[in-house]
Amino acid sequence: NSISSNSGWKTLKVATDPTFVPFEMKDANGNLEGFDIDLMNAIAQVAGLQVQWESLPFDGMISTLQAKRVDAAINGITITPERQKTISFSRPYFKAGLAIAVRANNQDIQDVNSLKGRKIGVQIGSTGADFAKTIPNAQIITFNSGPDFFQDLQNGNVDAAISDAFATLYAIKTGQLKGIKVVSNLLTEEFYGIATPHNSPYLETINKGIGTLLANGTYEQIYQKWMGT
Ligand code: ARG
Repeated sequence: NSISSNSGWKTLKVATDPTFVPFEMKDANGNLEGFDIDLMNAIAQVAGLQVQWESLPFDGMISTLQAKRVDAAINGITITPERQKTISFSRPYFKAGLAIAVRANNQDIQDVNSLKGRKIGVQIGSTGADFAKTIPNAQIITFNSGPDFFQDLQNGNVDAAISDAFATLYAIKTGQLKGIKVVSNLLTEEFYGIATPHNSPYLETINKGIGTLLANGTYEQIYQKWMGT
C-alpha cells in the first residue's frame, strides 16, 4: 500500500469496524471492502491523502476520536446532536433509518407497540440501542456487533432486534442472514456522517471531497456498486 506513487502523500488515520454490510466488511482474503471504504478512499484520493485503516469496535469509536487517536471514523455512524457534543461530523453522505427485525415465522411483532415487554437485541452504543430504551418494559440485551445479535435472534434468545434497516435488508437479500425478516416501516430517519475529533483540520477537506464525488459521478458509481440491484 505504501509502495505507490502516492507515498509522499500525507496519511489520514481512519477507524472502522468492519462488521456492517455493505458499508464495511472483510473479503475472503481479509481485506476491507464496502461502500464506506470506497467512499473514504475516494475522498482521500481527491484530497491527496493516503488512508491508513484501523479496525476498532464500533462501541469505542467515539472515545477514540475524542482522544484524537485517529483522524476520522467512517462506520455508518448516524449524526446525532448527542454525539455532536463530543465529536464533529461531515456533511451527511447516506440516508438511513432503524427498523425492527424478527424471525421470519414471527406473527405477533408487527410494529413498535408490539415490542412492549419483549426481549430486544441491539448493538452497544448504537442509535438502535437508544431507541430500544424508549420502549416500555422492554428487556434490552446489548451485543458488541450486529452479527452477534442476529445470531441470538435466530436462536430465539431475543424476540426482536432494532438496527439500521438498510444493512439488515442487505444481509437478508444476500443470504448472509437467514430466517430473519424486517417488519414495519422505518422507525427513524437518520443520516450517516464521517466523524472527526472537534476542530479537525481535515473536516473541511472531507466535506469538499464529498462534494467533488457527488458532482463528478464517483459517489453515484460507488453507490451503484454496493447498493444497486
Ligand atoms: N447507524 C447506527 C449508529 O450510528 C449503527 C451503526 C452501526 N455501525 C457498525 N459499524 N456496526 O449508531
